[in-house]
Amino acid sequence: MAKFLFVTDLDDTLVYRTVGDDSALPELNQLLNQHRQEYGTKIVYATGRSPVLYKELQTQKNLLQPDALVLSVGTEIYLDGTDTPDSVWSEILSPGWQRETVLSITRKYPELVLQPDSEQRPFKVSFFLQQEASASVIPQLEAELQKNKLNVKLIYSSGIDLDIVPHSSDKGQAMQFLRQKWKFAAEQTIVCGDSGNDIALFAVGKERGIIVGNARKELLQWHDEYPADHRYLAKGFCAGGIIEGLKYFGLL
Ligand code: GLC
Ligand code: MG
Repeated sequence: MAKFLFVTDLDDTLVYRTVGDDSALPELNQLLNQHRQEYGTKIVYATGRSPVLYKELQTQKNLLQPDALVLSVGTEIYLDGTDTPDSVWSEILSPGWQRETVLSITRKYPELVLQPDSEQRPFKVSFFLQQEASASVIPQLEAELQKNKLNVKLIYSSGIDLDIVPHSSDKGQAMQFLRQKWKFAAEQTIVCGDSGNDIALFAVGKERGIIVGNARKELLQWHDEYPADHRYLAKGFCAGGIIEGLKYFGLL
């Protein structure tokens, strides 16, 4: 057995967001923790949540302490349990990022409803946008932001959440930043997800992917369009699907 880098989304990937059977979680936690102690495996959570909402979930679900945290859809990286985002990563995101200009444009779209204050972050502006409106609003908004030379990326997840972030940022690029920092090869890296904001984790390179059995339509459609041998679609849901995938890749 060799060490690997384990990167997982939280909501509806590692744990159920609302109600669901989290009974495979203690087993997965135990397996990962043991692997970390014996081989130096590293554990990373990559979530759309802000620090406030992450802490809520950590307490609620009794999550393992990770080696690094990727919060706010990849726009904040926290190493070794610190409360300060990694400044090297922030410096990569800042050139050309104009939060106020983004907001002055989004204000013109009544379909965009701002998410709570805690989810508005230095490098992330987030809205609720209904699925029915998304097909017309997203391309229009994208074109307008581009016309204004704003170097941003729109990430739509779960038929409701729209995040606007710097172009140099998403969960995938944040994951690769850590992978390179810790010197793990793509083949020694596992990424797990269930929804739109996880596509970047799977799309950025050749890391091994586990899509949990309860994945959302947007991710399944993308997976159908871009199938790859290094990606596994599990039958099991959440932690159960992750254990299944880790065994599939021979890592457990
Ligand atoms: C989390 C965040 C929210 C974001 C969503 C999708 O729910 O709290 O701000 O829009 O993830 O990335
Ligand atoms: Mg999720």
